[in-house]
Amino acid sequence: MGKIKKIGVLTSGGDAPGMNAAIRGVTRSAIYNGLEVIGIRQGYQGMIDSNFKPLESHSVSDIIQRGGTILKTARCEEFRSPEGRAKAHNNLKEAQIDGVVVIGGDGSFTGARLFNEEYDIPFVGIPGTIDNDIYGTDYTIGYDTALNTVVEAVDKIRDTASAHNRMFFVEVMGAEAGFIALYSGIATGAEAIIIPEIQGDALDLKKIIGEGNTRKKSSNIIIVAEGLKEGGAFTIAEKVKNEFPDYDIRVSVLGHLQRGGSPSAIDRVNASRLGHAAVEALIDDQKSVMVGISNGEIVLVPFRRAVKLHKDVNHSLLELARILSV
Ligand code: F6P
Repeated sequence: MGKIKKIGVLTSGGDAPGMNAAIRGVTRSAIYNGLEVIGIRQGYQGMIDSNFKPLESHSVSDIIQRGGTILKTARCEEFRSPEGRAKAHNNLKEAQIDGVVVIGGDGSFTGARLFNEEYDIPFVGIPGTIDNDIYGTDYTIGYDTALNTVVEAVDKIRDTASAHNRMFFVEVMGAEAGFIALYSGIATGAEAIIIPEIQGDALDLKKIIGEGNTRKKSSNIIIVAEGLKEGGAFTIAEKVKNEFPDYDIRVSVLGHLQRGGSPSAIDRVNASRLGHAAVEALIDDQKSVMVGISNGEIVLVPFRRAVKLHKDVNHSLLELARILSV
C-alpha cells in the first residue's frame, strides 16, 4: 500500500478557463487509483480555515466545459507567513491529507515551495493561468481559451475600426508577460504589438505609427499588453494623439472577460492530462514539483526552477508580426 491515501486539491490565484477540467482530472484519476479526494475551497485560505469538502466522482460531473472554478480561488496573504503555513499544515494533518495538488500560477507555486521546505506533506503543481508565463512548460491552463477570446474581440474591433478609418489601442491581460498580446497580435494581423519584454524598442511610436500612416491603412490595431512601465493603452494612446493629432483614436481595454468562458478543446485536453499526471506524481512520491507539457510530453519541473526562471517570448514571432504588417 502506497503512503498516499487521501489528497487535497485547490485552485489559487487568478482563475483560468480549464481549471474545472483539471479539478475533474485530478479527482477522477485519484479515485481510479483508490485515493480519497478533498476539495480545498478558496485556495490557500481554505487550507488555513479548514474549508474542506470531500469530492466524489459525481462532484465533478458536468464541469469540464465550465469556466471559473468550482473550488473558488483567492490570493492569500496569510499563507505567505510562516504562521499561516503552520495553521495550514495542522489542518491538513488533522484531515489526514497526505498530498496536495495546487492549480495556479507562479505566486501559488512560491507558496507551495515554501511549504514543502518546511513540511513533509508533498505538494504538486499544475500550471493554471491565462498568462502562459511559467517557466518549464510550453503551456498553462487557460491561455488557449483567453487567446481565442481576445482574437474574437479584436476581429470585432477591426470591423468598426475599418468602418471609421480609426486607430484602436487594445489592451490585453498578461501581468508582466506578453504572450497573449504577441499571439493575439499575430492572429489578428495587428499593425503593432507592444509588450513588456521589449519596451524600449516597442515604444518607438514614430516608427510604429509613422509606418502605419504612410501605408494609409483604413484601420490600425495596436495590441498593448498590460504591465508596461510606460502605462496602459490609455496612456500610450494619449501620447500618440499628441504626436499625431490627425488620427481618430479609440481605446479598448478587454479586462476580465479574458478570464471567463467555456474552455477550448485544447485547454480541456491538457487540463485533463495534467490533472492525471499530478496524481501520478504524488503516487510516485514526488514533491515540490510542477507537472507541465513540453514538446507535447508531460514533464516534471521543480518549483524552484518554475518560479525562479523567466520564460521569454519568442522574439522571432515579434519580427514576424512586423514583417507581416507592412
Ligand atoms: O494572472 C492572471 C491575471 O489575469 C493577469 O493577467 C492580470 O494582471 C491579473 O490576473 C489580474 O488580477 P485580478 O483579477 O486580481 O485583478
